[in-house]
Amino acid sequence: MSRPDPSHQGSDARDGNVLLVDHPAVADRVTRLRDVSTPSNVFRQLVSEVSALVAYEALRDLQMADSIIDTPVASGVTAPRIDETVLLVPVLRAGLGMVQAIQELLPLTGVAHVGLRRNEVTHQPDVYLNRLPADLRGRTVVVCDPMLATGGSLAEVCSLVSARGATDITALCLIASLPGLAHFHSVHPEVRVACAAVDPELDDRAFIVPGLGDAGDRLFGPPD
Ligand code: PRP
Repeated sequence: MSRPDPSHQGSDARDGNVLLVDHPAVADRVTRLRDVSTPSNVFRQLVSEVSALVAYEALRDLQMADSIIDTPVASGVTAPRIDETVLLVPVLRAGLGMVQAIQELLPLTGVAHVGLRRNEVTHQPDVYLNRLPADLRGRTVVVCDPMLATGGSLAEVCSLVSARGATDITALCLIASLPGLAHFHSVHPEVRVACAAVDPELDDRAFIVPGLGDAGDRLFGPPD
């Protein structure tokens, strides 16, 4: 693991609440995700694989408890099990592409969907679906969205999660922008963001550059 280059001014990478999963197996897959010639079926598979790798690194602190098991050669062995049900919050649409891989990594998960659409002119998120449980006190919440561009969408979702009482919130992304991380952490400094790449800037449409384009469209096709 390493953290984004702290020489980039304005990044909350400096405050330690960003985890950049820096590994050849991740970087190679991110390059293929970025490649415009990667077809949609391969793109979906890569999103899944990178999601699992980011989640693997980001979720080291899950609550564990001893269990007693019998192996084929020993009885009454004390061995650790994950002892909590993580709530995954995929941000529709693109966050859906991350869910299955993370569910396969963890024994028990719940899933609560939140749907946001970023306004193409103002770049502000508009919430069209909120299936969060009313009470999230004491829950470990993992918000999944491949792209953190301006950071506005993730900030909105974390505000919804936080308003229901959750204090343990981790955001899993694939690509985050430096200005987006700075904005996000100005609103939610308590939320750790784990990602596979940090890109330097946004274009005039607020797309991440170099980025990978519109993750939702590449996963599922254009919405309209
Ligand atoms: C994209 C992306 C994030 C959001 C990031 O979703 O998946 O949710 O934009 O932008 P931000 O950090 O500037 O808020 P989009 O609104 O395009 O919806 P989609 O996933 O349905 O395509």
